[in-house]
Amino acid sequence: MGKKVIVITGSPRKEGNSLAMTEAFIEAANQKGHTVTRFDAAFANVGGCHACETCYQTGKPCTFDDDFNKIAPEILAADVVVFSMPVYWYSIPAQIKNVIDKLFSFVVGQKNIADKECALIACCEEDDLSVFDGVRLPIERSAALLKWRMIGEVLIPGVLNVGDIGRTDGCQKAAELAERF
Ligand SMILES: Cc1cc2nc3c(=O)[nH]c(=O)nc-3n(C[C@H](O)[C@H](O)[C@H](O)COP(=O)(O)O)c2cc1C
Repeated sequence: MGKKVIVITGSPRKEGNSLAMTEAFIEAANQKGHTVTRFDAAFANVGGCHACETCYQTGKPCTFDDDFNKIAPEILAADVVVFSMPVYWYSIPAQIKNVIDKLFSFVVGQKNIADKECALIACCEEDDLSVFDGVRLPIERSAALLKWRMIGEVLIPGVLNVGDIGRTDGCQKAAELAERF
């Protein structure tokens, strides 16, 4: 049966490497009959978490109304959450980090966020796979805390410029992620 998939991206490069992999994943997931919603955080307005812990008290997920409130219901309803991003300074890009921080609203608001599947698509310039630690570990630990099951990670090193992903098997591996759920 088709699942609801939310894909949250972090790159501001529309033709970039992580978004090319994301598109390959989405195409494969659509072909398998899943329903995919995409949220490009770099082109949305999502502020940082204020840690006010008033989530849902005003009827909205986040009291500080921004585009997170538009995507929050899609995240809650999703069976599968896919994060896609480049590595920025050995870490998660600010563009997507605010979305991840605001997942806190589901915890504070006592929403049923558990029992999802989760995947990560990421790329970086350097060749050393440990460069991904600053992206991979927070996603894995956050998933574990939220009781989400990691179903796969596509981590592609050695890509710097737009188009570099075409010299790798990144898009193929991203498409194969759609076989895992
Ligand atoms: C602000 C910034 C910081 C970056 N930091 C790193 C880094 O710490 N390690 C690395 O290997 N690549 C780093 N890169 C390179 C990107 O990860 C790489 O170019 C990637 O392919 C970009 O993906 P995209 O095309 O999906 O945006 C950085 C790029 C930018 C713009």
